[in-house]
Amino acid sequence: MILVTGGLGYIGSHTCVALAQAGYRLIIVDNLCNSKPSVLGRIRELAPDATIEFRHADLRDRAALESVFAAHAIGAVVHFAGLKAVGESVEKPLLYWDNNVGGTIALLEAMQRHGVRRIVFSSSATVYGAPEYLPYREEHPLRPESPYGRTKLVIEQLLADQSGSDPDFRYTCLRYFNPIGAHPSGRIGEDPRGIPNNLFPYLTQVASGRLAKLRVFGNDYPTPDGTGVRDYIHVMDLAAGHVTALRYLEERERSITANLGTGSGLSVLQVVTAFARLIGREVPYEFVSRRAGDIAAFWADASLAARELGWRAELGLDDMCRDAWRWQTQNPDGYA
Ligand code: NAD
Ligand code: UFG
Repeated sequence: MILVTGGLGYIGSHTCVALAQAGYRLIIVDNLCNSKPSVLGRIRELAPDATIEFRHADLRDRAALESVFAAHAIGAVVHFAGLKAVGESVEKPLLYWDNNVGGTIALLEAMQRHGVRRIVFSSSATVYGAPEYLPYREEHPLRPESPYGRTKLVIEQLLADQSGSDPDFRYTCLRYFNPIGAHPSGRIGEDPRGIPNNLFPYLTQVASGRLAKLRVFGNDYPTPDGTGVRDYIHVMDLAAGHVTALRYLEERERSITANLGTGSGLSVLQVVTAFARLIGREVPYEFVSRRAGDIAAFWADASLAARELGWRAELGLDDMCRDAWRWQTQNPDGYA
């Protein structure tokens, strides 16, 4: 059985469907701090024949975690649970260190007690910090610029230390670039609380009339059209990457840290234009000043994942736009 922490969240829910469809039995642990209970029913609906159990618990609740490990024969862990808002992490560093790092320590202790030695971890491109060169390769210097990014880096180091102490302990750290899109059924997708921080949920809510106008943060960057460039990756490709990473841990006697991106960058204006073309009408936007802390451009060198894991992103920007729009139109208020 696979323990999926944070499995009711955006990336976790898509990955649970992919894992279940690949034949894995799942136990999800989530404290619902950034997700809704109704996600579980949607995951089960998309994988009707699978065993998918759920436990409402916080990773830092050691007694609850112990009972999950005691009650299930867990073979490996896919670890999504964490807080992820960069701005909030600057305001509340203790909360981020406690939740992300403290939660992971509690998880690793339970794994150790129960002899579980395989973990796939959600890391982030944010661990690199200001680019010394692009695309980022995995050996690029690691200088995250926010408390959030530093929690990700420290967890990567913790996993390396753990495997140093136990040669049979193996991990994959997956450094995600910018996940967007939704399941093609329109049944699961990204449901941010309040006003979205990220480009894509904001854009789809403008297109649906829920928000008035997209603010494009900066048009004076040293990029081809002056707007920020990112490596947007379809969440379905990301989900498939986790299935591949888990198989890698089962089959190979080594750990790996790999970028999961498409390998190419797109500007904010390219995204807005593609999205408007796909829905068949203009999306109102205005240029405003740069957002504090933003990097002009970054994208992945995705060749290590291709070479070592045999994984490549297959879906393009039109798929991301179409699936995000289907999710938005079928669920205008997100999950019930
Ligand atoms: P999300 O907030 O949608 O999902 C995280 C889930 O973890 C939520 O359901 C939340 O309720 C749960 N959770 C948080 N803290 C918990 C705790 N202490 N105990 C139990 N459950 C807890 O976020 P997401 O976008 O799906 O991201 C998943 C992971 O990927 C996170 O670790 C995030 O940092 C990382 N990541 C996300 C992005 C992105 O752009 N979405 C990029 C890079 C890395
Ligand atoms: N942007 C706008 N207007 C908006 C929102 C974003 O113009 O309303 C621009 C940003 O300036 C940036 C691009 O759109 O150029 C992407 O911004 P996002 O907020 O969608 O994503 P970020 O690259 O800033 O950050 C995200 C996650 C981080 C993660 C990083 C890399 O929020 O946690 O991707 O994985 F670390």
